[in-house]
Amino acid sequence: MIFDRQIMESSQMLAEWLRHPDVSTSPFEITHGKDLWDMTVAGPQLNGIFNRAMESDSTFVMDIVTHVFREAFRGIGSLVDVGGGTGLTSSKLVEAFPNLRCIVFDLPHVIATAPRASAAIEFVSGDMFVEVPRADAALLKWILHTWTDEECIKILKRCKEAIPPREKGGKLIIIEIVEGMCVNDAQITKETQLLYDLHIMINTTGKERDEDEWRNLFVAAGFSDYKITHCIGLRSVIEVYP
Ligand SMILES: C[S@@+](CC[C@H](N)C(=O)[O-])C[C@H]1O[C@@H](n2cnc3c(N)ncnc32)[C@H](O)[C@@H]1O
Repeated sequence: MIFDRQIMESSQMLAEWLRHPDVSTSPFEITHGKDLWDMTVAGPQLNGIFNRAMESDSTFVMDIVTHVFREAFRGIGSLVDVGGGTGLTSSKLVEAFPNLRCIVFDLPHVIATAPRASAAIEFVSGDMFVEVPRADAALLKWILHTWTDEECIKILKRCKEAIPPREKGGKLIIIEIVEGMCVNDAQITKETQLLYDLHIMINTTGKERDEDEWRNLFVAAGFSDYKITHCIGLRSVIEVYP
């Protein structure tokens, strides 16, 4: 995906974008006239490449998460995978936790191509800025880094509305980079995190965030507490409590 022509072309726009008065328009959008999501709606080829990239990532990462990080999912009966793509992440979860029911929630053109792999998974299309389907827990894997702080706060608020209070077991699980934090504190991993930040800056209006930036988002969206575990190389698992 990173070497796809349309993605690569946006990086040629970086110098011009740095001088552009409106940084709320990404180099991707300046190059193509549409943002990444509208381009995937308009182009089945880019949509396919993007979804396959996400599936590859989920195959790799969720095997680690479900083995090393079982605790985060213990006791959860239902989970909504917000921006869950074609459902690979949820497939891995219901495989690892047979009592878990998942809702894969994404935009209509993504849900339309998602294979129906398991009776334990329901597919729902919609807009996470408007309403998120209700469940015991919500998962955001590789979602928030593509959005601005204001947009993240909106998504986080919709997730908070979809889950029960902390006393009743409600929680949000985020799988993302926490900039500067990684397994073994490895320098090469921190450099790769910065490379991701650049990739995200070129192709979206989002950014990779450090712990302070994450905390500010959680507080602004009305969450009471969070816990970060570094267990998957570049990325961390962040449990956030209503
Ligand atoms: C970077 S992908 C992550 C996919 C999946 N969570 C994963 O890690 O494999 C972001 C996903 O968010 C979805 N998305 C974008 N805007 C959305 C919206 N307004 N409501 C619901 N999903 C949205 C995209 O279609 C895409 O599947």
